[in-house]
Amino acid sequence: MPAHTDADTQDYRLENDWEHARHRLTLLERRYDAGTIRRLEALGVGTGWCCFEVGAGGGSITRWLCAQVGSRGRVLAVDLDTRFVEELDNDNLDVIRMDLRTDELPAEAFDLVHARVVLMHIPQREQILDALLATLRPGGWLFLEEVDDFAVRALATGLHSEVTAAYKVGLEQAGVALDWARQLPEALNCRGLAEIGTGCEVSMFEGGSADATWWVFTMAQLAEHGLSRGLSASQLAEWNALLSQPGSWFPGLAMVSAWGRCPGPRS
Ligand SMILES: C[S@@+](CC[C@H](N)C(=O)[O-])C[C@H]1O[C@@H](n2cnc3c(N)ncnc32)[C@H](O)[C@@H]1O
Repeated sequence: MPAHTDADTQDYRLENDWEHARHRLTLLERRYDAGTIRRLEALGVGTGWCCFEVGAGGGSITRWLCAQVGSRGRVLAVDLDTRFVEELDNDNLDVIRMDLRTDELPAEAFDLVHARVVLMHIPQREQILDALLATLRPGGWLFLEEVDDFAVRALATGLHSEVTAAYKVGLEQAGVALDWARQLPEALNCRGLAEIGTGCEVSMFEGGSADATWWVFTMAQLAEHGLSRGLSASQLAEWNALLSQPGSWFPGLAMVSAWGRCPGPRS
């Protein structure tokens, strides 16, 4: 059992009640939904499936799942702050506000449990992973996607390197792991999942693009929580200006995906 650290009690810092949260989540969805949906389709998500969307955020994947599973299926979406998924009016959707760190997960048997960019934010991620696994029915799929900063650390130069390194320190002190996603395949393997598959998408982003705007919003929200460790206001302003320049390209975060199947036949 790992030792308890201050980070264990840290709260989520990219709250959905922030004034630009809807916009920030929309940028995230536009960037990653196509890849997520491609993999969900490959897993066979379809009519009648019972799906669990964990940390549903802005709700785009929840909405897609509701359409896929149809009236004979069901989707449960949970989040610390469900304000955006509550806007969806699908008849086959249930929404529950819950804190994955402390609240008991539903005693159900899902065909699919999916979480994207959620567990990396929570210090108790390994225990939550165990609990998520327990909600799968035999033959059901666990599909996790988390971001990792290995490409940024390897490729970033100059101010982009300095700014992202400083934030990394702040995030780690807050219990966020930017190096956990690379361990996802092993995390599924050591829990006995079958048919494990993996994917990893690393991209560069251009100054002034939607992806650059996502970075600027995300860092601004983190800075409001004092996570821009040791960076001066002028460094941050200079970095913002750098990221607004079309024609400049920067290494982005890697989205690591891993999925595996709970042993046993799907009933
Ligand atoms: C970065 S957003 C990702 C949203 C969505 N999964 C996506 O990829 O579009 C992370 C989401 O996880 C939720 N979250 C963070 N910590 C949580 C916790 N302890 N319990 C439940 N939800 C949590 C946040 O409220 C937020 O909606």
